[in-house]
Amino acid sequence: MKILYTTQDVTNWREENGSDTIGFVPTMGALHEGHLSLVDQSKAENNHTLVSIFVNPTQFNDPQDFKNYPITVDADLQLLSALSVDAVFVPSVQEMYPDLLKESFHVPILTETLEAKMRPGHFDGVITIIRKLFDLAQATKVYLGEKDFQQLSIIQSWVKKEKRAEIIVPCPTFRESHGLAMSSRNVRLSAAGREKACLIFKILQEVKSQKNLQSPPELEIWARSEFHLFPAFQLEYFEIIDAQTFAPLADWEDSEHPLAVVAAFLEGVRLIDNMRL
Ligand code: PAF
Repeated sequence: MKILYTTQDVTNWREENGSDTIGFVPTMGALHEGHLSLVDQSKAENNHTLVSIFVNPTQFNDPQDFKNYPITVDADLQLLSALSVDAVFVPSVQEMYPDLLKESFHVPILTETLEAKMRPGHFDGVITIIRKLFDLAQATKVYLGEKDFQQLSIIQSWVKKEKRAEIIVPCPTFRESHGLAMSSRNVRLSAAGREKACLIFKILQEVKSQKNLQSPPELEIWARSEFHLFPAFQLEYFEIIDAQTFAPLADWEDSEHPLAVVAAFLEGVRLIDNMRL
């Protein structure tokens, strides 16, 4: 497994592999089974797999969240080496942003809703780094998790709008045995917190099972009231939307792809999840 530190290293590695197919898995490290499943899929579908590990400062609207983001590069490299990944890109901030203060990029896609509303500037930062990484990797396919559903949709829309060649491959959310969606941030929860956090999955499942008995707004009210019964959770949003337009649903008939989306803080850790209904 090659470890690439500079953008020039990636360009050279890319040139060495010429017209072979490249699968790319962009990550912020603190890898878990969900990430590893993306790597497995990339390996099965491409000649070579490139993983990036970079905690991107421009996508953190909350400086404390950036400071607390888990960093486990040595363990990550061991996991990736055990999977025989071809190359891992682990750049410094200086390498990706030679002049951080001059960076500004606005992505006018899905900016008014959910994550974009709660985390102003977040998706501008995501697209800023994704553009740099995609330009370097020149990948055939890029693997992204469905847990970050809005991120996935924005990247898909941006790739289409910019007529880029990458094929975006959405990958299912991996869950811990009691249902908590896997996330790098989960390591910041206590053992008891991890147990409690399965409430999110339980509520999503219950909403799914009630689909034909109650309207979307009724189920939203029910779900929000369930969270309020547990003061350990600070709910940011629970909404039922159309998975393509992100419009809130008044009626099930308004959407062929209804999706429940949720964000809540537990023990100061921001957790997000979603479920197709
Ligand atoms: O989902 C993530 O880990 C990040 O947002 C990404 C896509 C690697 C961009 O920094």
